[in-house]
Amino acid sequence: MAVKDQVITDNYAIYNDDCIEVMENLPKDKIHFSIYSPPFGGLYHYSSNDRDLSNCQDYEEFFEHYGYVVEELNRVTMPGRITAVHCTDVPSGNSGKDYLIDFPGDIIRLHEKCGFHFIARHTIWKEPLWVRNRTMTHNLSHKTIVDDAVYGGVASADYLLIFRKHGENKVPVAHPTGLSHYAGECPLPEEVLKYKDWGGKQTENRYSHQIWRRYASSVWDDINQFRVLPFADCKEEDDEKHVHPLQLDIIDRAITLRSNVGETVLTPFMGVGSESYVAVGLGRKAVGIELKTSYYRQAVKNMENAPEYTKPGTTQGDLFE
Ligand SMILES: C[S@@+](CC[C@H](N)C(=O)[O-])C[C@H]1O[C@@H](n2cnc3c(N)ncnc32)[C@H](O)[C@@H]1O
Repeated sequence: MAVKDQVITDNYAIYNDDCIEVMENLPKDKIHFSIYSPPFGGLYHYSSNDRDLSNCQDYEEFFEHYGYVVEELNRVTMPGRITAVHCTDVPSGNSGKDYLIDFPGDIIRLHEKCGFHFIARHTIWKEPLWVRNRTMTHNLSHKTIVDDAVYGGVASADYLLIFRKHGENKVPVAHPTGLSHYAGECPLPEEVLKYKDWGGKQTENRYSHQIWRRYASSVWDDINQFRVLPFADCKEEDDEKHVHPLQLDIIDRAITLRSNVGETVLTPFMGVGSESYVAVGLGRKAVGIELKTSYYRQAVKNMENAPEYTKPGTTQGDLFE
Protein backbone atom coordinates (compact mmCIF):
# COMPACT_ATOMS: atom_id res chain seq x y z
CA MET A 1 0.00 0.00 0.00
CA ALA A 2 1.47 3.39 -1.02
CA VAL A 3 0.95 6.02 1.68
CA LYS A 4 2.38 9.55 1.98
CA ASP A 5 4.49 8.49 4.98
CA GLN A 6 4.55 5.85 7.70
CA VAL A 7 6.48 4.71 10.78
CA ILE A 8 6.30 1.03 11.67
CA THR A 9 7.86 -0.35 14.85
CA ASP A 10 7.26 -3.48 16.93
CA ASN A 11 4.61 -1.66 18.97
CA TYR A 12 2.90 0.67 16.53
CA ALA A 13 2.20 1.52 12.91
CA ILE A 14 1.23 5.09 12.06
CA TYR A 15 0.31 6.34 8.61
CA ASN A 16 0.01 9.76 6.97
CA ASP A 17 -2.93 9.30 4.59
CA ASP A 18 -6.69 8.94 4.21
CA CYS A 19 -8.02 6.56 6.87
CA ILE A 20 -10.56 4.97 4.52
CA GLU A 21 -7.86 3.91 2.07
CA VAL A 22 -5.53 2.67 4.81
CA MET A 23 -8.29 0.70 6.56
CA GLU A 24 -9.28 -0.96 3.28
CA ASN A 25 -5.85 -2.59 3.40
CA LEU A 26 -6.18 -3.89 6.97
CA PRO A 27 -7.28 -7.52 7.46
CA LYS A 28 -10.86 -8.40 8.49
CA ASP A 29 -11.78 -9.09 12.16
CA LYS A 30 -8.31 -8.35 13.61
CA ILE A 31 -8.66 -5.06 15.53
CA HIS A 32 -9.39 -5.59 19.23
CA PHE A 33 -10.51 -2.06 20.07
CA SER A 34 -10.76 1.37 18.42
CA ILE A 35 -11.05 4.85 19.87
CA TYR A 36 -11.07 8.25 18.16
CA SER A 37 -12.64 11.69 17.74
CA PRO A 38 -13.96 12.20 14.22
CA PRO A 39 -14.07 15.74 12.79
CA PHE A 40 -17.25 17.12 14.39
CA GLY A 41 -19.52 17.22 11.31
CA GLY A 42 -17.83 20.34 9.93
CA LEU A 43 -17.55 22.29 13.22
CA TYR A 44 -13.77 22.58 12.85
CA HIS A 45 -12.02 22.74 9.52
CA TYR A 46 -8.57 21.13 9.57
CA SER A 47 -7.42 21.32 5.93
CA SER A 48 -8.60 21.92 2.37
CA ASN A 49 -7.80 18.33 1.31
CA ASP A 50 -10.95 16.87 -0.30
CA ARG A 51 -10.46 13.63 1.65
CA ASP A 52 -10.58 15.56 4.92
CA LEU A 53 -13.91 14.80 6.61
CA SER A 54 -13.94 18.28 8.12
CA ASN A 55 -13.93 19.67 4.59
CA CYS A 56 -17.33 18.35 3.45
CA GLN A 57 -19.85 20.68 1.78
CA ASP A 58 -22.53 20.04 4.36
CA TYR A 59 -23.58 17.80 7.23
CA GLU A 60 -25.22 15.22 4.89
CA GLU A 61 -22.04 14.90 2.83
CA PHE A 62 -20.05 14.48 6.05
CA PHE A 63 -22.23 11.51 7.05
CA GLU A 64 -21.99 9.93 3.61
CA HIS A 65 -18.18 10.09 3.90
CA TYR A 66 -18.12 9.04 7.57
CA GLY A 67 -20.37 6.08 6.70
CA TYR A 68 -17.46 4.51 4.77
CA VAL A 69 -15.24 4.91 7.85
CA VAL A 70 -17.73 3.15 10.13
CA GLU A 71 -18.27 0.35 7.59
CA GLU A 72 -14.52 -0.24 7.45
CA LEU A 73 -14.26 -0.10 11.25
CA ASN A 74 -16.92 -2.78 11.45
CA ARG A 75 -15.13 -4.97 8.93
CA VAL A 76 -11.72 -4.78 10.66
CA THR A 77 -13.00 -5.19 14.24
CA MET A 78 -13.10 -8.61 15.92
CA PRO A 79 -16.68 -9.85 16.41
CA GLY A 80 -18.06 -8.83 19.81
CA ARG A 81 -15.42 -6.13 20.37
CA ILE A 82 -15.71 -2.41 21.03
CA THR A 83 -15.32 0.91 19.22
CA ALA A 84 -15.43 4.18 21.22
CA VAL A 85 -16.31 7.53 19.60
CA HIS A 86 -15.64 10.90 21.21
CA CYS A 87 -18.06 13.66 20.09
CA THR A 88 -20.30 16.54 21.14
CA ASP A 89 -23.50 18.32 20.11
CA VAL A 90 -22.71 20.59 17.16
CA PRO A 91 -23.89 24.23 17.16
CA SER A 92 -25.54 25.49 13.96
CA GLY A 93 -23.31 28.59 14.04
CA ASN A 94 -22.01 31.31 16.33
CA SER A 95 -24.41 34.18 15.71
CA GLY A 96 -25.67 34.20 19.29
CA LYS A 97 -29.10 32.85 18.19
CA ASP A 98 -28.08 29.35 17.25
CA TYR A 99 -29.44 25.86 17.88
CA LEU A 100 -27.82 22.46 18.39
CA ILE A 101 -27.55 19.53 15.99
CA ASP A 102 -27.79 16.06 17.54
CA PHE A 103 -24.43 14.80 16.23
CA PRO A 104 -24.12 12.01 18.87
CA GLY A 105 -27.60 10.75 17.93
CA ASP A 106 -26.68 10.64 14.24
CA ILE A 107 -23.45 8.77 15.10
CA ILE A 108 -25.47 6.22 17.10
CA ARG A 109 -27.91 5.63 14.21
CA LEU A 110 -25.03 5.23 11.75
CA HIS A 111 -23.33 2.61 13.96
CA GLU A 112 -26.59 0.71 14.41
CA LYS A 113 -26.95 0.62 10.60
CA CYS A 114 -23.36 -0.63 10.21
CA GLY A 115 -23.51 -3.65 12.54
CA PHE A 116 -22.81 -2.28 16.04
CA HIS A 117 -24.96 -2.19 19.19
CA PHE A 118 -24.94 1.06 21.19
CA ILE A 119 -24.01 -0.03 24.73
CA ALA A 120 -22.92 3.02 26.78
CA ARG A 121 -22.60 6.80 26.82
CA HIS A 122 -20.23 8.70 29.11
CA THR A 123 -20.92 12.41 29.47
CA ILE A 124 -17.81 14.51 30.11
CA TRP A 125 -18.65 17.67 32.01
CA LYS A 126 -17.25 21.06 30.92
CA GLU A 127 -16.94 24.19 33.04
CA PRO A 128 -18.96 27.02 31.33
CA LEU A 129 -16.54 29.94 31.82
CA TRP A 130 -13.62 27.84 30.63
CA VAL A 131 -15.56 26.83 27.49
CA ARG A 132 -16.65 30.42 26.84
CA ASN A 133 -13.06 31.68 27.09
CA ARG A 134 -11.74 28.93 24.84
CA THR A 135 -14.43 28.98 22.14
CA MET A 136 -15.84 32.55 22.37
CA THR A 137 -19.33 31.08 21.89
CA HIS A 138 -21.61 34.12 21.76
CA ASN A 139 -24.64 32.58 23.47
CA LEU A 140 -22.52 31.28 26.36
CA SER A 141 -22.11 34.37 28.51
CA HIS A 142 -23.60 35.96 31.55
CA LYS A 143 -24.53 38.93 29.34
CA THR A 144 -26.84 36.72 27.23
CA ILE A 145 -29.00 35.78 30.18
CA VAL A 146 -29.02 39.40 31.37
CA ASP A 147 -30.24 40.60 27.93
CA ASP A 148 -32.52 37.75 26.79
CA ALA A 149 -32.20 34.26 28.27
CA VAL A 150 -34.16 32.58 25.45
CA TYR A 151 -30.88 32.70 23.50
CA GLY A 152 -28.77 31.37 26.39
CA GLY A 153 -26.64 28.37 25.46
CA VAL A 154 -24.82 25.75 27.54
CA ALA A 155 -21.24 24.56 27.79
CA SER A 156 -22.01 21.41 25.85
CA ALA A 157 -20.63 18.22 27.33
CA ASP A 158 -18.40 15.89 25.39
CA TYR A 159 -19.54 12.30 25.02
CA LEU A 160 -17.74 9.02 24.72
CA LEU A 161 -20.11 6.66 22.91
CA ILE A 162 -19.40 2.94 23.23
CA PHE A 163 -20.48 0.43 20.57
CA ARG A 164 -20.03 -3.34 20.37
CA LYS A 165 -19.76 -5.15 17.04
CA HIS A 166 -22.35 -7.88 16.54
CA GLY A 167 -21.13 -11.42 17.18
CA GLU A 168 -19.62 -13.32 20.06
CA ASN A 169 -16.44 -12.11 21.78
CA LYS A 170 -14.14 -15.16 21.76
CA VAL A 171 -11.37 -13.61 23.96
CA PRO A 172 -12.69 -12.08 27.20
CA VAL A 173 -11.29 -8.70 28.28
CA ALA A 174 -10.63 -9.81 31.84
CA HIS A 175 -9.28 -7.97 34.89
CA PRO A 176 -8.52 -10.86 37.28
CA THR A 177 -7.03 -8.56 39.94
CA GLY A 178 -9.37 -5.67 39.18
CA LEU A 179 -8.37 -2.23 37.90
CA SER A 180 -4.95 -1.21 39.17
CA HIS A 181 -4.73 2.51 38.37
CA TYR A 182 -7.15 5.42 38.28
CA ALA A 183 -7.04 8.03 35.50
CA GLY A 184 -8.72 11.18 36.77
CA GLU A 185 -8.30 14.18 39.00
CA CYS A 186 -10.04 13.16 42.26
CA PRO A 187 -7.68 11.00 44.31
CA LEU A 188 -9.04 7.72 45.66
CA PRO A 189 -9.78 7.58 49.42
CA GLU A 190 -6.71 6.81 51.51
CA GLU A 191 -8.27 3.73 53.13
CA VAL A 192 -8.63 1.79 49.84
CA LEU A 193 -5.01 2.20 48.68
CA LYS A 194 -3.87 -0.96 50.45
CA TYR A 195 -6.11 -3.06 48.16
CA LYS A 196 -4.26 -2.02 44.96
CA ASP A 197 -3.43 -5.13 42.85
CA TRP A 198 -5.36 -7.23 45.38
CA GLY A 199 -4.69 -10.89 44.63
CA GLY A 200 -7.34 -12.27 46.99
CA LYS A 201 -11.08 -12.48 46.49
CA GLN A 202 -12.16 -9.68 44.15
CA THR A 203 -15.25 -8.98 46.27
CA GLU A 204 -12.71 -7.58 48.78
CA ASN A 205 -10.88 -5.40 46.24
CA ARG A 206 -12.06 -1.99 47.44
CA TYR A 207 -9.42 -0.17 45.37
CA SER A 208 -10.68 -1.56 42.07
CA HIS A 209 -14.29 -1.24 43.21
CA GLN A 210 -13.83 2.53 43.75
CA ILE A 211 -12.36 2.92 40.27
CA TRP A 212 -15.11 0.82 38.74
CA ARG A 213 -17.77 3.05 40.33
CA ARG A 214 -16.19 6.07 38.69
CA TYR A 215 -15.55 4.44 35.32
CA ALA A 216 -19.04 2.92 35.13
CA SER A 217 -20.60 6.35 35.73
CA SER A 218 -22.66 7.89 32.96
CA VAL A 219 -21.15 11.27 33.94
CA TRP A 220 -17.38 11.66 34.06
CA ASP A 221 -16.83 14.87 36.02
CA ASP A 222 -13.33 13.92 37.19
CA ILE A 223 -11.41 14.12 33.89
CA ASN A 224 -8.31 16.33 33.96
CA GLN A 225 -9.04 18.65 31.01
CA PHE A 226 -5.44 19.81 30.78
CA ARG A 227 -3.61 16.48 30.68
CA VAL A 228 -3.17 16.35 26.90
CA LEU A 229 -0.31 15.79 24.48
CA PRO A 230 1.76 18.72 23.17
CA PHE A 231 0.14 20.14 20.01
CA ALA A 232 0.98 23.85 19.67
CA ASP A 233 4.06 23.23 17.48
CA CYS A 234 2.12 21.70 14.58
CA LYS A 235 -0.08 24.74 13.94
CA GLU A 236 0.28 25.99 10.38
CA GLU A 237 -0.07 29.67 9.46
CA ASP A 238 -3.24 29.26 7.39
CA ASP A 239 -4.98 26.97 9.91
CA GLU A 240 -8.50 28.23 10.42
CA LYS A 241 -9.08 26.05 13.49
CA HIS A 242 -6.60 23.99 15.37
CA VAL A 243 -6.73 20.43 16.63
CA HIS A 244 -7.67 19.92 20.29
CA PRO A 245 -6.08 16.70 21.49
CA LEU A 246 -8.28 14.29 23.39
CA GLN A 247 -7.72 14.22 27.16
CA LEU A 248 -5.41 11.36 28.14
CA ASP A 249 -7.62 10.36 31.10
CA ILE A 250 -10.54 9.56 28.76
CA ILE A 251 -8.34 7.44 26.52
CA ASP A 252 -6.66 5.67 29.44
CA ARG A 253 -10.02 4.66 30.96
CA ALA A 254 -11.44 3.32 27.73
CA ILE A 255 -8.35 1.37 26.68
CA THR A 256 -7.75 -0.04 30.17
CA LEU A 257 -11.36 -1.15 30.53
CA ARG A 258 -12.12 -2.45 27.06
CA SER A 259 -8.92 -4.14 25.77
CA ASN A 260 -6.30 -6.60 26.99
CA VAL A 261 -2.57 -5.91 27.28
CA GLY A 262 -0.87 -6.87 24.00
CA GLU A 263 -3.98 -6.27 21.85
CA THR A 264 -4.24 -3.83 18.93
CA VAL A 265 -5.94 -0.43 19.23
CA LEU A 266 -6.92 1.42 16.04
CA THR A 267 -7.36 5.21 15.69
CA PRO A 268 -8.53 6.33 12.22
CA PHE A 269 -8.37 10.10 12.99
CA MET A 270 -5.09 10.21 14.87
CA GLY A 271 -4.44 13.98 15.09
CA VAL A 272 -1.25 14.41 17.13
CA GLY A 273 -1.38 10.79 18.30
CA SER A 274 -3.08 10.89 21.74
CA GLU A 275 -4.95 7.58 21.47
CA SER A 276 -2.01 5.68 19.95
CA TYR A 277 0.34 7.18 22.54
CA VAL A 278 -1.74 5.98 25.48
CA ALA A 279 -2.33 2.58 23.84
CA VAL A 280 1.42 1.91 23.58
CA GLY A 281 2.02 3.35 27.07
CA LEU A 282 -0.51 0.84 28.41
CA GLY A 283 1.20 -2.11 26.70
CA ARG A 284 -1.11 -2.38 23.70
CA LYS A 285 -0.14 -2.14 20.04
CA ALA A 286 -1.37 0.92 18.13
CA VAL A 287 -2.42 1.59 14.56
CA GLY A 288 -2.99 5.31 13.87
CA ILE A 289 -3.91 7.16 10.67
CA GLU A 290 -3.79 10.93 10.08
CA LEU A 291 -4.36 12.83 6.83
CA LYS A 292 -2.81 16.19 7.71
CA THR A 293 0.96 16.06 7.47
CA SER A 294 1.75 18.66 10.17
CA TYR A 295 -0.36 16.72 12.73
CA TYR A 296 1.13 13.43 11.58
CA ARG A 297 4.66 14.80 12.12
CA GLN A 298 3.72 15.86 15.65
CA ALA A 299 2.29 12.36 16.21
CA VAL A 300 5.60 10.85 15.06
CA LYS A 301 7.41 12.88 17.76
CA ASN A 302 4.81 12.07 20.41
CA MET A 303 4.95 8.34 19.62
CA GLU A 304 8.69 8.29 20.22
CA ASN A 305 7.90 9.14 23.88
CA ALA A 306 4.97 6.72 24.20
CA PRO A 307 6.79 4.09 26.30
CA GLU A 308 7.27 6.78 28.96
CA TYR A 309 3.53 7.35 29.35
CA THR A 310 2.88 7.76 33.08
CA LYS A 311 -0.26 6.12 34.36
CA PRO A 312 -1.96 8.72 36.56
CA GLY A 313 -2.55 7.75 40.16
CA THR A 314 0.53 5.53 40.25
CA THR A 315 3.71 6.91 41.78
CA GLN A 316 4.56 9.99 39.71
CA GLY A 317 2.58 13.19 39.25
CA ASP A 318 0.88 14.22 36.04
CA LEU A 319 2.85 14.14 32.83
CA PHE A 320 2.75 17.78 31.81
CA GLU A 321 2.45 19.63 35.07
C1 LIG B 1 -10.81 15.71 16.21
S1 LIG B 1 -9.29 15.54 15.39
C2 LIG B 1 -8.52 14.21 16.25
C3 LIG B 1 -7.60 14.65 17.36
C4 LIG B 1 -6.97 13.48 18.11
N1 LIG B 1 -7.98 12.79 18.89
C5 LIG B 1 -5.83 13.95 18.99
O1 LIG B 1 -5.93 13.79 20.22
O2 LIG B 1 -4.89 14.54 18.47
C6 LIG B 1 -9.75 14.81 13.87
C7 LIG B 1 -8.59 14.53 12.94
O3 LIG B 1 -9.04 13.83 11.79
C8 LIG B 1 -8.18 14.15 10.72
N2 LIG B 1 -8.81 13.70 9.46
C9 LIG B 1 -9.85 14.26 8.78
N3 LIG B 1 -10.17 13.51 7.69
C10 LIG B 1 -9.34 12.44 7.70
C11 LIG B 1 -9.19 11.31 6.85
N4 LIG B 1 -9.96 11.12 5.77
N5 LIG B 1 -8.24 10.38 7.18
C12 LIG B 1 -7.44 10.54 8.26
N6 LIG B 1 -7.53 11.63 9.09
C13 LIG B 1 -8.47 12.55 8.82
C14 LIG B 1 -8.00 15.66 10.89
O4 LIG B 1 -6.85 16.14 10.19
C15 LIG B 1 -7.85 15.77 12.41
O5 LIG B 1 -6.52 15.69 12.80
